[in-house]
Amino acid sequence: MTGLKVLISREEISKRVAELGAEITRDFKGQPVIFVGVLKGSAIFLADLARQVDLDATFDFIGVSSYGNRPSPTQELTKDVDQSMKDKNVIVVEDILDTGLTLTVLKKLLLAHQPRTLKIAALLDKPSRRKLPLQGDYVGFTIPDEFVVGYGLDYAERYRNLADVCIVPRE
Ligand code: IMP
Ligand code: MG
Repeated sequence: MTGLKVLISREEISKRVAELGAEITRDFKGQPVIFVGVLKGSAIFLADLARQVDLDATFDFIGVSSYGNRPSPTQELTKDVDQSMKDKNVIVVEDILDTGLTLTVLKKLLLAHQPRTLKIAALLDKPSRRKLPLQGDYVGFTIPDEFVVGYGLDYAERYRNLADVCIVPRE
């Protein structure tokens, strides 16, 4: 796409992800954690974040029907987690908090597993778009109401492999 404009550079992302990783390492004080990535946007963030966390860690993934292909606020599970979350320290990893719908649904679903703790890590946050009250525990960057791609985030499944987070120009 022509006209993509860098909003957050790879260097800024890398620095911030290291800070978040250090924060998680401190908060969990040597306890094991499970990173639960929300497919597919979180894949790159999860890979980088997990390598900045010095704890005994495992990965799992969960999938929900994504942005834009449904007019109604229904969220459909396309992949459930593989392992029990009972009594575990669960960190849900998401690319971006937008309306808050996805994470509200996922939080409820994962809380039913009775984890020991449930935290949310999100690379980006667009608080101005929130429809449901929801806060991330580990947030990389708060951004304005723009559609962004790169570092895992897509526009019609493309641009996930851009190293920087870029703004898609409005029509
Ligand atoms: P929410 O349920 O409205 O919070 O939406 C979260 C999901 O919408 C994210 O996981 C993304 O897949 C998608 N999304 C929201 N904003 C953007 C954006 O600016 N770029 C790409 N995907 C987005
Ligand atoms: Mg997503």
